[in-house]
Amino acid sequence: MQRVLATMFFIAAALFPIALAADQWTDMLPAGDGQQETKELCSNCHNLQKIVQSRKTPQEWERSVNDMLARGAQIFPDEAEKIAKYLSASFPPGK
Ligand code: HEC
Repeated sequence: MQRVLATMFFIAAALFPIALAADQWTDMLPAGDGQQETKELCSNCHNLQKIVQSRKTPQEWERSVNDMLARGAQIFPDEAEKIAKYLSASFPPGK
């Protein structure tokens, strides 16, 4: 029993920094229309680091979102449009 507990503690301790690191990027999304969708729909396959560190024009963001759809993202067209608009406003070039 003690060994089970020790193993569980070890696993929890090992996973804790990962959970923390994922949150760090999520918290860096600025408030705005589309923030919630981006948080929920864009973090299924990778964390949000790629997004937070990107600067793209609206055309490039639209292309990226379409690219994610092609990779299998489960996102409705109206949500994809909202996310592309949100990202264009939040992460434009040179900011
Ligand atoms: C179905 C899984 C999946 C989902 C959901 C997903 N992505 Fe991705 N994304 C990927 C893969 C695979 C890559 C390529 C990884 C690499 O190049 O290292 C990637 C790479 C990226 C990149 C870096 C490449 C680039 O185009 O600049 C960005 C930015 C990105 N994703 C944004 C998003 C956004 C925004 C969303 C939400 C609309 C999203 N992702 C949702 C799978 C996904």
